[in-house]
Amino acid sequence: MIKSIRGILIYTAIILIASIVYFVYAYTVYPPVPERETFLSEVGEGFGEVGLWALLFIYARTLLKLVIGKGALVKRILPDYSPPATASIFQQLLGLLDRTHIYVGIATVAIILLHIALMGVPMKILFFPVVLALVVWQGLFGMFLTWRYSPKELKRFSYLVHAQFLTGIMIGIFAYFGHLLIDD
Ligand code: HEM
Repeated sequence: MIKSIRGILIYTAIILIASIVYFVYAYTVYPPVPERETFLSEVGEGFGEVGLWALLFIYARTLLKLVIGKGALVKRILPDYSPPATASIFQQLLGLLDRTHIYVGIATVAIILLHIALMGVPMKILFFPVVLALVVWQGLFGMFLTWRYSPKELKRFSYLVHAQFLTGIMIGIFAYFGHLLIDD
């Protein structure tokens, strides 16, 4: 556990440093991107905010799973496991989050795609196409995980690349630095 947390921290530090280096490069090379004030971009901003909250909501579930630990593991091993009547409020909450993740996930992907489309994001700043690809990636492998005709190997691979923090850390850091290049 400690080891994997250390791994995640090192990974985050590497992504952060790489992003700062690219940020400095993009800041010096590309002219500042003016913020557009059209009706569509105002609507797009709203989608961006909702998308951010949706992502935080999704990863809060994952954190909650890590905190509760054992209960979630039982659930994964035994698909038809139902929690005992004395399930804690956290376990009940987790059950609700588990049941709704697919819908929240699809909505999140759609909202972020709409945000990008409405804002007219400058794709030559690499942060943006990469975030776009990662969000589509997360949605695509989420679908493969859920789709009942996915071959076993594809399911296993999808779980590996979908159900983790690594993509989320990249999405968060890249989107943050990308927005820094736009806002001022
Ligand atoms: C941006 C969108 C999405 C993000 C950030 C995301 C993130 C995650 C994460 C971090 C996990 C693993 C940890 C956990 O169980 O909480 C997970 C699990 C899962 N996701 Fe997603 N997801 C997204 C969209 C989707 C979509 C669109 C689908 C299906 C259509 C989906 C289906 C699943 C399934 C089936 C699991 C396994 C649940 C389990 O075994 O506990 N996800 N997702």
